[in-house]
Amino acid sequence: MLTPEENKLVTEIGPDTPMGDLFRRFWIPVFHGRELTDPDGAPARTRLLGEHIVGFRDTSGRLGILEAACPHRGVDLSYGLNEENGLRCARCGWKFDVEGNCLEMPMEPDEEELKKTVKAVAYGVQEWGGLIWAYMGPKEESPERPEFEWGQLPEDHRSTLRWR
Ligand code: FES
Repeated sequence: MLTPEENKLVTEIGPDTPMGDLFRRFWIPVFHGRELTDPDGAPARTRLLGEHIVGFRDTSGRLGILEAACPHRGVDLSYGLNEENGLRCARCGWKFDVEGNCLEMPMEPDEEELKKTVKAVAYGVQEWGGLIWAYMGPKEESPERPEFEWGQLPEDHRSTLRWR
């Protein structure tokens, strides 16, 4: 039987936990491709490895996965407006691109300088096999995405589902 300490070691997967660090070294399927089909469509929210994240497809079709908490005051970005190549926070309107760069800061007097100092947490993202995959580990150590056989089949030869 596991001790409480051993149980904690193998079950906690949040940031800065041993198992969390291990899982963050892999690409993980997080959204179904059907959840984020439309450019400028509604963002999708979920929880992965103990973190709330938001996915969106921007005007140009690029996918982004950001930490859901806005870097300004922590409002959930999944309530934001996905428009003109960025996700705009519902509270004060700061807008972030798929890489987490701050594009706009309405109402801030020194917007041009201030926005260079702010960045949303952006995770690695790829679409493959009908699924959207996230990588939450160190960018410089991102591994190859797994090439499962099912993902290489034509779309009409496979079925993918996501349970929530
Ligand atoms: S809380 Fe998001 S812009 Fe202020």
